[in-house]
This record gives sequence, C-alpha cells and structure tokens, in this order.
Amino acid sequence: MVGHVHVLYFSPTGNSRTTANAVAFGLEAGIDLNHDLTCRAARKEVERSGLSFDSNDIVVLCAPVYAGRLPSCFSCLFSSIHANGARAVLSVTYGNRAYDDALIELEDLCCGAGFVPLCAGAFVGMHSYDRRIGADRPDAKDLDAMHALGRIALEKIEEQASIAEKIPGNRPYRQGIVPSVPPYGPIVSGFCTRCGICATVCPVDAIPATGPYITDPAACIHCCACIRACPEGARSMEDLRHQVIVKRLEQGCLDVRREPELFS
Ligand SMILES: Cc1cc2nc3c(=O)[nH]c(=O)nc-3n(C[C@H](O)[C@H](O)[C@H](O)COP(=O)(O)O)c2cc1C
Repeated sequence: MVGHVHVLYFSPTGNSRTTANAVAFGLEAGIDLNHDLTCRAARKEVERSGLSFDSNDIVVLCAPVYAGRLPSCFSCLFSSIHANGARAVLSVTYGNRAYDDALIELEDLCCGAGFVPLCAGAFVGMHSYDRRIGADRPDAKDLDAMHALGRIALEKIEEQASIAEKIPGNRPYRQGIVPSVPPYGPIVSGFCTRCGICATVCPVDAIPATGPYITDPAACIHCCACIRACPEGARSMEDLRHQVIVKRLEQGCLDVRREPELFS
C-alpha cells in the first residue's frame, strides 16, 4: 500500500527540482506533498518543527553535488527528518564532472533518518558555474531515465532487497567544500536594475532584501542561483580562484557526455 508521494529537494538552479519531479512522475501516482527546501526559511522551519513521514509514504529526494558531496545546508537537515520507515528514492544531480561520494552520503543520511531506500540515481544537469558544461541537460534522454527510476521504485515497493553496497562512493567521504580565505561571492555590475530577484532566490539569504544587492561573501555558498536568475546578466563571479576552477572544468568536462546511472 502506498501512502503519500512526497518530493523533497534543495535546488538553487533548478536541476534537482526538475529531477525530483521527473522521478516522481515515473511513480505514476501524482505528487501529494512538495518539500522545496531551497530557501533558508523552509530549512529553518524543518529545523524548528522537524519533518516526519509515515511508513507507507514514498519520498523522492534530490540534491546537487557540491565538490563531490552534498551541500552542507541540505545534509544538516537530516537530524530533523524522521522517516519512520518511509520508502525513499534517492537522487543527485551533478554538472558533468562527477558525483563522487554524494549519492552514498545521501544513502547514509536517509538510512540514519529511518528511510528504507528503494533505488537511486545520479543525473547530469547544466553546471551551476558554466552554462556550456552539461549544456541543455537534463535533456529528453535524462528525463526518460528519471521516469525509469520512478518505475523501478514502484516495482521495488514490495521487495525487501537492500540497495546497500550498490551505490558507488567511498567511506570516509572525500572532503567537500573548503571555505575560501578570504571569502568571495558574485559581484554586481552597472546593469543591475534593482529588481531584487537575486535576493529572493539566494538560498542562504546572503543578499540583502533591499538594494544595492551586494552579496555577503562569508555567507555565499557559490550556488550561482543569483547569477542564473538575474534578468540583466548583471551578476558574475569574477574572483580569480573561481575562474581557475571553471578553466579546469572546461578542460575535463566540456567534450564528454556522462549518462544517467540507476541503482536498484
Ligand atoms: C559549489 C558547487 C560545487 C559543485 N561541485 C560539483 C562537483 O563536484 N561535480 C559536478 O559534477 N558538479 C558540481 N557542481 C555542479 C552542480 O552539481 C550541478 O550544476 C547541479 O545540477 C546543480 O543543481 P541545482 O540546479 O539543483 O542547483 C557544483 C556546483 C556548485 C554550485
């Protein structure tokens, strides 16, 4: 028996939201509850009140890969999540480099929170740093694979088979994001029209709600949501350290196509 179908995601630039919804579409049941944990207020609410599921529920989880791990503002939420035996479909999106230990980290967090993982998938999405890396991903082929993961979950509901040992990754996990010293963030150019969209999409409230919308570099997680959302293209990451990362990514990830991977 299936209770409610939930999607739960953190998705500053939208790939993980698309993925969670597409996987849920494959479940052919419709989404009952949407837990978009991208904005800080939503995450604070989970930390304050907790988030509980029922053993009959199915929860499709998705988050982006940051430096081969899950974003810490997402992973820290699991101590407030009580799955009570709900079944989970695990997924991560990554920018055509690698997902390293992020999916296995998600599996560990889910098991620790009391979920029963049914299956898992890793999917490519356009890289937050550079639109040319993973350009136009997820595409139709990726969406097919996301739907397939949902269908696999449906088939596995009655099975008790564990997916432990099937998900690639290392324990202990690799080191994730190392804070930059001094910290840096996006800068604002004269093209800014002070519409304030950047402040509304920032998942860590690093941009004040009123202009001139200067990012607090110490709070910025480099998710690039504000750069992607700015209708004037007025925001960019100009720090040399960022440029070096992008150059390295261009060399290793521009001319390869990594395919979706499903684990069950
Ligand atoms: C801080 C940061 C670190 C990232 N690290 C990786 C990585 O290690 N491997 C990779 O392939 N993509 C990496 N990416 C790209 C994202 O994982 C990818 O674009 C993801 O789909 C973004 O998800 P979203 O659209 O849901 O925000 C990184 C992006 C950011 C912002």
